[in-house]
Amino acid sequence: MAEKIESLLKEEGVYHPSDDFREKALVKDESIYSEDYEQFWKRAAEEVDWFEPYSELLDDSGAPFFKWYIGGKINIAYNCLDRHVNSWRKNKAAILWEGENGDRVVLTYYQLYREVNRFANALKGLGVKKGDRVTIYLGMVPEFPIAMLACAKIGAVHSIVFGGFSALALRERIEDSQSKIVITADGSYRRGKVVPLKENVDESLEGIDGVEKVVVVKRTGNEINFVDGRDIWWNDFIEGQSTELEAEHLDSEHPLFILYTSGTTGKPKGVVHVHGGYNVGTTITTKLIFDLKDEDVYWCTADIGWVTGHSYIIYGPLSLGATTLMYEGAPDYPSPGRWWDIIDRYGVNVFYTAPTAIRYFMRLGDEYIKKHSLSTLRLLGTVGEPINPEAWRWYYRTIGKENCPIVDTWWQTETGMIFITTLPGILPMKPGSAGKAFPGTEADILNENGESVGLNEGGYLVLKKPSPSMLRTIYGDPDRYVNVYWSKFKGCYLTGDGARKDEDGYFWILGRIDDVLNVSGHRIGTMELESALVAHPLVAEAAAVGKPHEIKGQAIVAFIVMKVGVIPGDELREEIREFMVKEIGSIAKPDEIHFVEKLPKTRSGKIMRRVIRAIAEGRIDVGDISTLEDESALDEIRKK
Ligand code: WTA
Repeated sequence: MAEKIESLLKEEGVYHPSDDFREKALVKDESIYSEDYEQFWKRAAEEVDWFEPYSELLDDSGAPFFKWYIGGKINIAYNCLDRHVNSWRKNKAAILWEGENGDRVVLTYYQLYREVNRFANALKGLGVKKGDRVTIYLGMVPEFPIAMLACAKIGAVHSIVFGGFSALALRERIEDSQSKIVITADGSYRRGKVVPLKENVDESLEGIDGVEKVVVVKRTGNEINFVDGRDIWWNDFIEGQSTELEAEHLDSEHPLFILYTSGTTGKPKGVVHVHGGYNVGTTITTKLIFDLKDEDVYWCTADIGWVTGHSYIIYGPLSLGATTLMYEGAPDYPSPGRWWDIIDRYGVNVFYTAPTAIRYFMRLGDEYIKKHSLSTLRLLGTVGEPINPEAWRWYYRTIGKENCPIVDTWWQTETGMIFITTLPGILPMKPGSAGKAFPGTEADILNENGESVGLNEGGYLVLKKPSPSMLRTIYGDPDRYVNVYWSKFKGCYLTGDGARKDEDGYFWILGRIDDVLNVSGHRIGTMELESALVAHPLVAEAAAVGKPHEIKGQAIVAFIVMKVGVIPGDELREEIREFMVKEIGSIAKPDEIHFVEKLPKTRSGKIMRRVIRAIAEGRIDVGDISTLEDESALDEIRKK
């Protein structure tokens, strides 16, 4: 990305939290934004319990291998469980769980604590020690958080692999993390069908050594293969184990988990997070950004297989002593009313989801939603990609009834916690902008030479200061950690995103740097193109990619999914091109528009532009597609 990214999307209106929300909000005072950085992170550390206090906040002598809360002893599982069990929260619901088939489980803090201890004791009995890696490959069942917290409690390092990954992707992650134990289930439910988790594990372990035990949760009851001596049912594993266990007193820098995330090239990176800083960061952000109160029911719809689930279904909310809801299945199963029904039945107050889901429901029309009251909701959140203003307003109106602030939260697997957002009680919202840098963090936009760019000029989004919750390294590859994140600009963490900052200090994320197009010398974020495309009343979803073009450098190719019932044709194609001219300018006019039934997406719902781009460029090899949700989407694009 050379000079600058043109930022052309027109700004939309500004929204304010209601007086009522503002009055009751945990953060009412804007002075939090001027609080001293060190002071902020010291104060945040008071949100969690320490076995031994830290003596120094930050050791940057080995930068970029930063250390936080030096000398402190802590255990995140203790903060999620034991400290609540020793309080009035003992019998409070920690997890409200609903299975796709309607099964329901409520785990109070005390019940969860006992289950975690049993499982942790069983792991110890197997010889799992501090620092050992354990791979968890599960659907969204109650045993999932139990297994995670049990690892944390004994100082083992979990490596969670999303249950939608293939056997090959799983094998790569098991091998890289050198896990001794794999925790899985016979299967998991997805749209009424069984995903054969155990079968995938068996396949992934073929021909590799090192895994001594496979613990299998019985969920779907389908027949599975059992390897004698290696495989054991969860229930047999915990049989007879004590429900008491003291948490390991761990160094604040002791690793908590590895989570693999894909880079633009090469094999997935094992992002490493640690107990101390991650616990502080996830706890303070959950509290202040989601304005979470003890009486709230909080629901984050992510899968625990992704970082959002780690930080904002489990560790942040439980550390705070909140009630967190977990739903096992697909959002629209057995009908598109499922989520909205769950919100009403559990009285969900704070709801956190992704733009891709919002656009999906928007496309289906409001009829499924109108049947539900949604009156308990008081705060909404989004994460994962920029939300186009049209979807934002639909979310605000149709789900939030114009009564709930929306926190658009920007962050990454690597940052561990939310870094850019609007604190809901004090900051106005601008649809399409994630908001300001969270207190205790500093973000900026740089040009190719590492200089801060002017207002509203596009550039590289960087973090100018480390924060406690950030990754410590890439597992087994510290050089890659330095190269990918800390090499391009001295002393700055490179996020890989392009963005601009406006006159109010609000960040507008333009998408990944490698998703930026250069059309006739103008650099345009693909996100901006897509945001404009989906603003067209008949368009549901869109992906824009660049294709080499003799004169312009790159031409814009758009793949578009229309709203249900719309029959696309040449006339509509022309209409959309003109619409783009109107929304952004003639440089945004797509050279090609292809109508498709669906876009290729990762299982976490991100459009795989890299793959679309490769196809648009006519390349035969489209690279790694192990995270692709549905191959048929690719074939469709190939045909076009
Ligand atoms: C994108 C997910 C715009 C961004 C927590 C980032 C966003 C990548 C937002 C990280 C947002 C996430 N607005 N873009 N609110 N949130 N992103 O590691 O490109 O799965 O770099 O972490 O998602 O994705 P990851």
